[in-house]
Amino acid sequence: MKRNTKIDPSISNINEIINTLKENNRFYEIETGSERKYLIETYGCQMNEHDSEKLEGFLAQMGYIKTVSRENADLIIFNTCCVRENAELKVYGKLGALKHLKKKNEDLIIAVCGCMMQQEHVVKYIQKTYPHVDLIFGTHNLHNFPALLEKTLTNKEAIVDVWNQEGEIIEGLPVNRRYGIKSFVNIMYGCNNFCSYCIVPYTRGRERSREVSDVLTEIEDLVANGSKEVMLLGQNVNSYGKTLANNVDFADLLERAVKISGLERIRFMTSHPKDLSDKLVDTMAKHRKICNHMHLPLQAGSNKVLKEMNRKYTQEDYLEIVNKMKVKIPDIAITTDIIIGFPGETEEDFKETLAVAKAVEFDSAFTFLYSIREGTPAATKAGQVPEEEKKIRFQALKELIDETAYQNNQQYLNQEVSVLVEGNSKKNDHVLTGRTETSKTVNFKGDEKLIGEMVTVKITAAKTYSFDGVIV
Ligand code: SAH
Ligand code: SF4
Ligand code: F3S
Repeated sequence: MKRNTKIDPSISNINEIINTLKENNRFYEIETGSERKYLIETYGCQMNEHDSEKLEGFLAQMGYIKTVSRENADLIIFNTCCVRENAELKVYGKLGALKHLKKKNEDLIIAVCGCMMQQEHVVKYIQKTYPHVDLIFGTHNLHNFPALLEKTLTNKEAIVDVWNQEGEIIEGLPVNRRYGIKSFVNIMYGCNNFCSYCIVPYTRGRERSREVSDVLTEIEDLVANGSKEVMLLGQNVNSYGKTLANNVDFADLLERAVKISGLERIRFMTSHPKDLSDKLVDTMAKHRKICNHMHLPLQAGSNKVLKEMNRKYTQEDYLEIVNKMKVKIPDIAITTDIIIGFPGETEEDFKETLAVAKAVEFDSAFTFLYSIREGTPAATKAGQVPEEEKKIRFQALKELIDETAYQNNQQYLNQEVSVLVEGNSKKNDHVLTGRTETSKTVNFKGDEKLIGEMVTVKITAAKTYSFDGVIV
């Protein structure tokens, strides 16, 4: 056997595997005086963050402990993202840098998983370029991680196990929650929208919703363990329920979730404009617990570009939804995602993006330079926009959004807002930080004991990206 393991490879049951690895780690600790340690680096969106929490859940059960030092780790996992090229390049750089660690410690296990692995060309490239990688797995077989790890520990060869198709939704996986106060809850997986620039439908598979009862039970457990806020996750939460047998939609799920006592705030992302119903807006307006924040990706302002992106709404549709929300929920904050330089985007098209952004008065925006994703329809489109031009447009959009954000934030000056205290401010130990219902960051002086509590804060300074305030 390659490593210090006491494993019977014939074991197929996950719980047995977990127990065996736990025993194995206990022997290791007795023999060496130190526990086996893992390090997970996560890239990409909350889906990946949450998947990493599930991996951590398994690892905790197997007796691994967490380290922040690569040098000390016995197991290093990169949970990868491929939504844009720079996300991939980062991972390649880091994988290269691990080669010397593997030379020093040949028992080190290096694993890569996540969205990048769902692309065949990436897996082949990693196998060829980074032979020190021991385990490659994808997004659809995360639940099988203990078995894959066991196989890796007992095999001399690298293990590659990537499934092309999503299986059933596996419930009841252990989860190691990173945040006590606010927690992620998946309500659905995958995406059916096939926006022409986007790789996610290929890496995360078809859309499938979790049963209402499973979602609610998970939230109840979280609240019982101290969570005050949940973020419901899906690539398009507005189409929640379409794959379920009973006739239930996202607004119905929210109606059920607000009844959970002890739960203070419900957030969700992401919403797709084409599926955002009046019923959802009414439900948000009706319940204080549902935060007055809507993250609604616009992607582009020009109808020609929206059509080529396969977004299935027009700028008029988008503006109509925004108006409806502003009428029914006057203090709502609206944030967005915008792609700059989609193939064929002209200066005129971009001006329409600026015009829509100005009309909406976004509170903030994630703005991305279009990045070619192999295998997506837009990748082979004519009219790719030069990088220099994209950067000029990016700057113009950023300035506009910063301006609307700043202007919107002025309305908060001298107002009292309710803030969930999340922790110490990164910049200053004696300053606490938290968020308003509208997802704006507020920094204020206060006792650390308040972390996890809801407090009322009076805003004393309203800046572009955050507020300063005092507890009242
Ligand atoms: N499901 C969500 C977000 C998924 S990816 C939604 O529909 O909004 C997050 C963001 O990445 C997208 O909203 C989009 O703005 C951006 N993105 C996706 N593919 C991209 C690409 N090829 N180039 C640049 N940005 C991209
Ligand atoms: Fe990608 Fe579009 Fe699906 Fe969002 S809705 S994940 S942008 S394909
Ligand atoms: Fe990236 Fe996968 Fe999320 S590609 S953005 S980690 S779904």
